[in-house]
Amino acid sequence: MTELEILREKILKLKGERNAIIISHNYQRDEVQDIADFTGDSLELSRIAASAKCDVIVFCGVNFMAESASILSPEKTVLLPEIGACCPMADMITVSGARSLRTQFPGYNFTDGYVYPADFTLSDIKKLYPGVPVVTYVNSSADVKAESDICCTSANAIKIVEALDSGKVICVPDKNLSAWIARNTKKEVIAWDGFCHVHDRVTTADVSLAREEHPDALLLAHPECRIDVLEMADHVTSTSGMLRFAISSDAKEFIIGTEIGLLYRLRKENPDKTFHPLRKDMICPNMKKTTLKSVLRALETMTPEIKVPEETRIHAKRALDRMLEIK
Ligand code: 13P
Ligand code: SF4
Repeated sequence: MTELEILREKILKLKGERNAIIISHNYQRDEVQDIADFTGDSLELSRIAASAKCDVIVFCGVNFMAESASILSPEKTVLLPEIGACCPMADMITVSGARSLRTQFPGYNFTDGYVYPADFTLSDIKKLYPGVPVVTYVNSSADVKAESDICCTSANAIKIVEALDSGKVICVPDKNLSAWIARNTKKEVIAWDGFCHVHDRVTTADVSLAREEHPDALLLAHPECRIDVLEMADHVTSTSGMLRFAISSDAKEFIIGTEIGLLYRLRKENPDKTFHPLRKDMICPNMKKTTLKSVLRALETMTPEIKVPEETRIHAKRALDRMLEIK
């Protein structure tokens, strides 16, 4: 047996003994996706976490995802195999302690005038717009969710904003997703200056080059890309939305504007179609931290466990539940 096969066998045995399920985000390493009971986008994984019949969830993803699982299913033990797997965008907003984006990303060119700088806090923005609902992308901490009216993911953000009984909304923390929402609703969107460094690096020049190289391909882009990039796409959707689109489309060739981990499932589920990354360096280092070794270690030691303080959890759950109620 190869080392990989031995690891897989040990994981599957221990998973049964612990009454655990393994869930994986679409950006995880190929071998981690292969061992998972379910692989999906943030919305699908939240729904699974809320309803799974098991004692333990091994969450192969980044910390805000495991936190959401624990918020929704506090009676289960939620393990995040790599405790350092974080989402830098989620850390770009805090409830009250100021944290400067400019300090985190020296040299970054902040050109947008319409968004609030991230050295503001969520409390500052709420004070400026009393009564305006806060729609928080799930890529955020439990503390921020707890101070929000409702959560959203890239799969349902427009629907969530449309469902709110308010002509104005505050959307945090992703300025690109916020711009995409604003483009698709008549509501006024007050945005935040956060971004995903994997998606925000893509430029219109990258799109032009990819289109030149693959003139017959359709471009699918994730709403964390910049608005000028999204405007050039044939379809804008979440990671699982891209999977559904690719399967049902008559097209045979696609350029994929998201983290390259998604290409594994796209190719596996569509062996007759061709997929090209929009940029080869669209790699989320945090999503790649989890390995089969760390999954096995988590099941052996039942650590690192993710828990949210009860008062925060109750408030954050309200925002997540409101999102999950909107079909
Ligand atoms: P999805 O919800 O589309 O899978 O996206 C999550 C994410 O972190 C994108 O960078
Ligand atoms: Fe966060 Fe971007 Fe990684 Fe998604 S791809 S987890 S938004 S850093």
